[in-house]
Amino acid sequence: MNILGIETSCDETSAAVVSGGRVLSNVVSSQHCHSGFGGVVPELASREHERMIVSIVDATVTEANIRKKDIDIIAATAGPGLIGAVMVGLCFAQGLAYALDIPFVPVNHIEAHIFSPFIVEGPDSRGPEGRFISMTVSGGHTLLAAVHPDMTYEVIGRTIDDAAGEAFDKTGKMLGLPYPAGPEIDRLAKQGNPFFHEFPRALTSHSQTSRNYRGNTDFSFSGLKTSVLTYVQKQTPEFIERHLADIAASIQHAIVSVLVEKTIAAAKNLGIRSVSVAGGVSANSALRKAMQEACMREGLALHIPGTRYSTDNAAMIATLANLKLSKGMKAERRYDIAPFASLESGSNRKG
Ligand SMILES: Nc1ncnc2c1ncn2[C@@H]1O[C@H](COP(=O)(O)OP(=O)(O)OP(=O)(O)O)[C@@H](O)[C@H]1O
Ligand SMILES: [Mg+2]
Repeated sequence: MNILGIETSCDETSAAVVSGGRVLSNVVSSQHCHSGFGGVVPELASREHERMIVSIVDATVTEANIRKKDIDIIAATAGPGLIGAVMVGLCFAQGLAYALDIPFVPVNHIEAHIFSPFIVEGPDSRGPEGRFISMTVSGGHTLLAAVHPDMTYEVIGRTIDDAAGEAFDKTGKMLGLPYPAGPEIDRLAKQGNPFFHEFPRALTSHSQTSRNYRGNTDFSFSGLKTSVLTYVQKQTPEFIERHLADIAASIQHAIVSVLVEKTIAAAKNLGIRSVSVAGGVSANSALRKAMQEACMREGLALHIPGTRYSTDNAAMIATLANLKLSKGMKAERRYDIAPFASLESGSNRKG
C-alpha cells in the first residue's frame, strides 16, 4: 500500500511516500524567507507552501519511483500548526485524494512527532517495543508522554510557558544569531565550555526553588530566557563576541540537562524501560549524547529517529497514518476535514 504524506504545518513544505510501512521518499523544502524577521511570519509561510506544494509532491512521487495513480491513500497534517499553513497542505491533499478517488487520513502533527521513532528506512529500523516515555521537543511543544502499545498516550508533563525549541531560538536571537538559532547554538556549543556560566534550570532538582521540586514533570524555560537577556545586557558586545561559543554551550547545557533529568525520572517513576526523543530539538547533538549516556547508565533502551526526521517532515505523517491503519483504523473517502489548532483535537490522547 502506497501512502502519500503531506506536511505544511509551519515553515517546511514536505511530501513523502511510505510503502508497506517503509519510506520510499521524503522531500523537504525549508523556507528561508523568515530569517530576517526572527521568527516565522504566518502569511509568508502560507504563500511559500502554496508556491512549493505541487513541485514537492511531484518530486517525492518521482523519487519513490511510482506514478500518482499508484497512490492508495493520502495523509496530511490537519493541525496543530499555523492555521493558514496547515490549510494549504490539507486542502491540497484532500483535493488530490478526491481527484484520484482514494481515501484521505488527517494526521495530528504532534502525534506524528511522538511516533516518528517508528519510521522505517531499512531492514534494521525498529521502533520502541511495549510502553515508552516520549520526550517530544519542538519549536512549539515540549511534551513528556507515556505511550502505550495500542497507540494511546497520557501527557505527564508539558511546558508551562516556552517550548524548548523556542528557548533555543529566542536566547539565540539575544546573542545575535539568525532564526532558527537552535542548529547554530548546537554548532557553536561544540567549541564552547558548558560550565562557563550557570543559567537557571527551572522545576528541577537543581533549581533555586528545588525545595518545591518534588518530582515536578512540567517544564519552564521563560526564566532561562530572562536570565540570558539580563546576562547579555550586562556584558560588552566584545565580551559576548569573544565568549559566544561558551555562552551558547552554557545555554544548551541548561536546556539539555532539564530535558534529560525529567525524561529519565519519568521512566524510573513509571517503571518504563524504553525512552524516545523526537521533534526538531532532538536533532541537537548534545541532547542525543546526554540522553544516550543517561539511558545507558540507567539500563533504558533509547530510540531517536535520524536527524532528517527530527524537524518537520512528511515521512512521519505517512508513517503515523500507516501505523493507525495497521491497528484497524478505517480510511474514508471524506474530503471535508477542517484544520485544527490544538494538540487535543483529533488526537489519541487519553490522559
Ligand atoms: N540541532 C538543533 N539543536 C537545537 N534545536 C534545534 C536543532 N535543530 C532544530 N532545532 C529546533 O527545532 C525547532 C523546529 O522543530 P520542529 O520543526 O519540529 O518544530 P515546529 O514544527 O516548528 O513546532 P511544532 O512541531 O511544535 O509544531 C526550532 O526551534 C529549531 O531551533
Ligand atoms: Mg514540528
